[in-house]
Amino acid sequence: MPIQTQAKVHNFSAGPCVLPQEVFQQAAQAVLDWDGSGLSILEVSHRGKPFVAVMEKTMALVKELLGAPAHYQVVFLGGGASMGFHLVPQNFMKLGGKGAYAHTGEWSKRAIKEAKLAGEAVVVASSEDKNFNYIPKGFQVPNDVDYFHFTSNNTIYGTQYKQFPASPVPLICDMSSDIMSRPVNVADFAMIYAGAQKNMGPAGATMYLFDPDALGKTGRSLSPMMDLANHAAKESMYNTPPVFPVYVTMLTLEWLKRNGGVAGAEKRNAAKAGLLYAAIDRLPIFQGTTAKEDRSVMNATFVLKDSTLEPSFDELWKAAGISGIRGHRSVGGYRASMYNALPIESVQALVDVMEDFAKRNG
Ligand SMILES: Cc1ncc(COP(=O)(O)O)c(C=O)c1O
Repeated sequence: MPIQTQAKVHNFSAGPCVLPQEVFQQAAQAVLDWDGSGLSILEVSHRGKPFVAVMEKTMALVKELLGAPAHYQVVFLGGGASMGFHLVPQNFMKLGGKGAYAHTGEWSKRAIKEAKLAGEAVVVASSEDKNFNYIPKGFQVPNDVDYFHFTSNNTIYGTQYKQFPASPVPLICDMSSDIMSRPVNVADFAMIYAGAQKNMGPAGATMYLFDPDALGKTGRSLSPMMDLANHAAKESMYNTPPVFPVYVTMLTLEWLKRNGGVAGAEKRNAAKAGLLYAAIDRLPIFQGTTAKEDRSVMNATFVLKDSTLEPSFDELWKAAGISGIRGHRSVGGYRASMYNALPIESVQALVDVMEDFAKRNG
């Protein structure tokens, strides 16, 4: 019998965020009785055959959905993408070396901070001059650095690279908030990493997809826990992996595969973002906060031109069953996150409220 739930709210949360309803059902069932085993997924050994198969399948799905080269490796670790900020310089920056960074918001700031602990961080491009409301373009990545790191989608400010920067050195990307939302050419990257909790699953697992040939060149001696090659050699089982988050990630990636893969997601995401940005541009009481050509398909940021109207707008969208559109605490205004699993009906519900509010206040 399916597990009963309340009617869903329209969840625009920036992450953790909405996942497919059928994934919630499957995950809930597995907590009670995993595949008829009489055991909860929460009480099984990570080294037992059933979970080893889950881990293998999840890694394989990542590679399959993104079309990664065969020799690329995947690991799933705890620690969040924030631990990734630390793992990047530790695994890719030579002792006494440098990493180049594009600075496009809070997450790149934290990545740069970690790099400075390991050596030199060279900021080759920044959009800080305009409060991160655009994506820097036309910059050169020097070739005397060990890697170039950028953030493909800026979750807080709502900007997104439409074209990835060219780099003469290994390219590393924090794709936490737009992984699996569109096709990418994985072979261009030495490493892509992403927290699961937007497009891939729940919080608690972070995915690292990398070219193993790019590792082992730094001269650093690493703690085994910080060593990506070690985790890859142990197939993400060096220590206890985040079992349940990885399982739910597998379910979410299976759902994505059934629904047209990343190309299908790209189409649906474009339709959703098109609908919302058209409303922002059509309704004069609202204003988008980012450069139009750099608008994120995942996180749309906007404000009410007259901020004194916010309390009455907030009342209206809450009454319509909408949740999670207040902007990040550091930015204010509004942010509607439209990750893969958000149905277009939710975006339509938000647009209807915006239309209604504009009429009442026009
Ligand atoms: C683009 C990006 N990078 C990194 C992070 C940090 O992730 P975590 O909180 O999993 O460490 C986030 C969190 O939202 C993010 O959006």
